[in-house]
Amino acid sequence: MTTPQEIIENISELPTLPDVVAKVNQLVNSASASAGDINDVISRDIALSTKVLKMVNSSFYGFPRRITSITHAVVILGFNTVRNLTLSAFVFKAFNDSKRLEFDQKQFWIHSIAAGITASNIAHGVGLSQKEKEDAFMAGLLHDVGKVVMCEYISDSTKKIIEEVKATDCLFYEAEKNQLDFTHASIGATLLEKWNLPISIVSLINNHHHPMSVEENKKMCCIISLSDILVRSLCLGNGGDEKIPVIPDGLLDELAIGWGDINGFMDASLHEVKKASVFIEMLT
Ligand SMILES: [Fe+2]
Ligand SMILES: [Fe+2]
Repeated sequence: MTTPQEIIENISELPTLPDVVAKVNQLVNSASASAGDINDVISRDIALSTKVLKMVNSSFYGFPRRITSITHAVVILGFNTVRNLTLSAFVFKAFNDSKRLEFDQKQFWIHSIAAGITASNIAHGVGLSQKEKEDAFMAGLLHDVGKVVMCEYISDSTKKIIEEVKATDCLFYEAEKNQLDFTHASIGATLLEKWNLPISIVSLINNHHHPMSVEENKKMCCIISLSDILVRSLCLGNGGDEKIPVIPDGLLDELAIGWGDINGFMDASLHEVKKASVFIEMLT
């Protein structure tokens, strides 16, 4: 039986988290770091600072005045958001040149960005904290990152999975369970764990296809699962399969929401994904 850990450990060319991103992650996790400390680290990498400032100044955030320094960005957006922007810039770059992706790469990232935005909106809508809202964005953005790893590094098995998905119109996840000892959820979680991402985000990635069977962080897990389902039904991008799963029994009760709220989240997503053009631009 092959474990996700063995797969990740055996892939020698797998992108490693660059020092600058690892350092920002470390600073965000430490209680004593200041906005100036984060500025010192990010500013040393010109390409990264440019990307972060481009994202901060995009219509997605809609600040009235131009933000010209990383320190200012950290003060306005908070540590967590700047860490998430840094990580997003790296993940897009690291996996953007994947030649072996068996499905449309741009559509895949639009699915991911839309899931991040939707998850963040739902977290806000159900009254979770700013930190949880930001974690929801990150977990939504990265929920399917394991699929990119699989296409790139275990392409023969992944081709078979995609053939089954196409032949039977099943979920990618269902075909994986038929053919492998692991899924894109566990591969993605293992990669992010190796990159030292907060365990709260890692566990959301790991459990995004079975939110009702988790004990810890259930609400957040339900949010990631629901955002994946909603962006599928809105046809915002494509995560590698066409099927729209039904919302698991009990999920709406867990979040204390109804169908009126769902419609509101869907409208907001359509509107905001259009505004997120800066993220989408980075993919092309
Ligand atoms: Fe998934
Ligand atoms: Fe997905």
